[in-house]
Amino acid sequence: MPETRLLSPDASGIETAAAILTEGGRVAFPTETVYGLGADARSDAAVAGIFAAKDRPTFNPLIVHVADIETARRYVEFVPPALTLARAFWPGPMTLVLPLRSDSGIAPLVTAGLPTLGIRVPAHPLAQSLLRAFDGPIAGPSANPSGRISPTEAGHVMGGLSGRIEAVLDGGACGVGLESTIFGFDADGTCRLLRPGGVIAEAASDLLGAPVLPHAPDEGITSPGQMLSHYAPSGAVRLDATAADEGETMLGFGEIPGDFTLSASGDLAEAAARLFTLFHKLDEIGAQRIAVAPIPERGLGVAINDRLRRAAAPRD
Ligand code: TXA
Ligand code: MG
Repeated sequence: MPETRLLSPDASGIETAAAILTEGGRVAFPTETVYGLGADARSDAAVAGIFAAKDRPTFNPLIVHVADIETARRYVEFVPPALTLARAFWPGPMTLVLPLRSDSGIAPLVTAGLPTLGIRVPAHPLAQSLLRAFDGPIAGPSANPSGRISPTEAGHVMGGLSGRIEAVLDGGACGVGLESTIFGFDADGTCRLLRPGGVIAEAASDLLGAPVLPHAPDEGITSPGQMLSHYAPSGAVRLDATAADEGETMLGFGEIPGDFTLSASGDLAEAAARLFTLFHKLDEIGAQRIAVAPIPERGLGVAINDRLRRAAAPRD
């Protein structure tokens, strides 16, 4: 594998990135949520390259990025509530899990054999430019080695995957900083929250005029983010801390101070955008024990707390 190239966020960088994808290679690219590790979703060989680079268990399906709703319709069947959500929240930080069309041409490795596909229209201008230059569906899990923290800067991607992928398109820091909200649908159209994220579930239920239910616990592989310890920094994490104990590095929020703060003003959007960046920072400084101030369980706080609980879960 040649050295991983860092591509500049301009026309020539985008052209090079698209050419690498066309040749079956892997390019990490910025989205408004986190960096994705992209490859041609129609090619099993290209998609296998994603699993290899991430050391990802192959039973975990990948989401596919497309430029707009019309393109999404080539790959999946939209149930009516899904179309309502897509029209309201795309492009944006939302993934919809929908029935895969039999003529989709999506590589079987992408869905890990499931009859459904997770699909998303990202808003980030560089992701949009890359999708249009490549002119095809881009499979893209978060661009981190499996089981590690999602990258919110090009440097994080380099830190985890340098020498394992062809290139990283450098778009600076990601605005949302947490992975997309994932919604799925029952056969009767009931919407289920499979992963909290940048789009808030209440906004979806308001729009649909029907409650968004939690995912059914017996769904197994159809519920994403199964691995509790998926989002963990290396150090042990203690939640709802009002002050650091001896030897702990403290992440503050609002009025609770810390060695670092998620948001001094108590702004949940700022806290979301900083969370993974601070996790990476804690690993860099070698923090062994980490205390985190309480985050209110409302709005984006639901997604932040979901990631924090995973970070604090017992590890193997
Ligand atoms: O914000 C995001 O969603 C980022 C950016 C790069 O788009 N991507 C991302 O991908 O977080 P990934 O692969 O790290 O997480 C996607 C989750 C996984 O937990 C996977 O199991 C689940 O979506 N997933 C994918 N396809 C699915 C399907 N057909 N049914 C159920 N879950 C699915
Ligand atoms: Mg991930």
